[in-house]
Amino acid sequence: MGEVRVTGAKNSVLKLMAASLLAEGTTTLREVPDILDVEYMSELLRRLGCEVIRDTDAGSVAITVPGVPSHKADYDLVRKLRASINVLGPLLARCGQADVALPGGDNIGSRGLDMHVAGLEKLGATVRSEHGFLIATRSERLRGAMVWLDFPSVGATENLLMAAVLAQGTTVIDNAAREPEIVDICAMLTSMGARISGVGTSTLEIEGVDLLSPTDHTTVPDRLVAGTWAVAAVMTQGDVTVGNARMEHLEIALDKLTLAGAIVEAAGDGFRVRCEDRPRSVDVVTLPYPGFPTDLQPQFIALNSIAHGAAMVTENLFEARFRFVNEMVRLGADVRTDGHHAMVRGKATLSGAPVEAADIRAGAGLVLAGLVAEGVTTVYEPHHVDRGYEGFVEDLVRLGADVSRIAVAP
Ligand code: EPU
Repeated sequence: MGEVRVTGAKNSVLKLMAASLLAEGTTTLREVPDILDVEYMSELLRRLGCEVIRDTDAGSVAITVPGVPSHKADYDLVRKLRASINVLGPLLARCGQADVALPGGDNIGSRGLDMHVAGLEKLGATVRSEHGFLIATRSERLRGAMVWLDFPSVGATENLLMAAVLAQGTTVIDNAAREPEIVDICAMLTSMGARISGVGTSTLEIEGVDLLSPTDHTTVPDRLVAGTWAVAAVMTQGDVTVGNARMEHLEIALDKLTLAGAIVEAAGDGFRVRCEDRPRSVDVVTLPYPGFPTDLQPQFIALNSIAHGAAMVTENLFEARFRFVNEMVRLGADVRTDGHHAMVRGKATLSGAPVEAADIRAGAGLVLAGLVAEGVTTVYEPHHVDRGYEGFVEDLVRLGADVSRIAVAP
């Protein structure tokens, strides 16, 4: 039995940091997780001319944005952090030009930018790709427009929001993403003076304003970290209370854990998950919010691999996310993939082995599998996990797990 506390969401705070570019002056963000991606985004903002002061004890970051930020985001940083693409919209709106190196980030598929580009073009921008950069320019102020997204892309919705808040006239984003992180950025933009309606629905209407002001904003809690702890509790037949977590942001995932045999209930400012028996397997299908999150898919494959029965896991967002299955097989899991489906047949035990994390969530899934595997599991490339989970090893140890970080010769 133990307790962990979740901080602000990685997938929100990185965009909130980009949104600070929209107003001259000092914006303060709170509940900022102490993770590598925040460091990368801080460095990117510094290169754009901002002063970024992080207080990791207080969990805050103060970003002072100059009157005219520079507009070039170079490959050496952008390749480490796909969320760098989120400076495209605000820089274009503020500076009239944004040169952003094409991003890398996770090894989870091709991850196109077509909807970002088409949407910005609808607002009057000219976008071209040159020497590995995406270069967006505008000859006059962006103009509000009707934008239909082919798919409710989180990143495209955010970029378009940040461009549209300073455009002339009204922009409507239809088939917009509805993730809690989108609601969070809308709340921050609104507190800066933006006018946005339809927040939390798939139709966002933005009435452009001339100027935004800096703000002080507290980041929404990380539902994916909270969800990871919930799965860990069930896999280890443990009892974990997760603080600063919103159950309403994890409805399907927590319902799946209940179907697996867990007891999930509200507790304090979060929830408590406990499981007394070996869990039962559960089918999951990833979809945009409020569907089951792709960012909890590897953790649920890990859960199903030690559960009673067989389950089908369907991945609809990132085709390469099943690469991690090969690592699960090294731990003795019985998982077969066919296209975007994985059939997982639960086994009573897994067997510890060296494995490699290819992205943040795969890393988390492998650590969870390692907790229940017999013998020692070594997860290589743990920096992927550090990109998204603050103090993961320390929290696991506090909860009673036998985990340590080891230095490995290069
Ligand atoms: N897509 C396109 N064209 C576009 C935009 C997206 O084809 O213009 C495709 C992508 O290739 C992908 C799908 O649409 O297949 C979903 O992409 P989306 O834009 O929604 O995702 P994202 O903004 O790139 C964010 C998170 C991911 C999370 C997804 C889905 C951040 C920094 N990243 O990515 O988080 O999985 O939304 O919820 O916010 C993670 O945290 O581990 C992670 C990968």
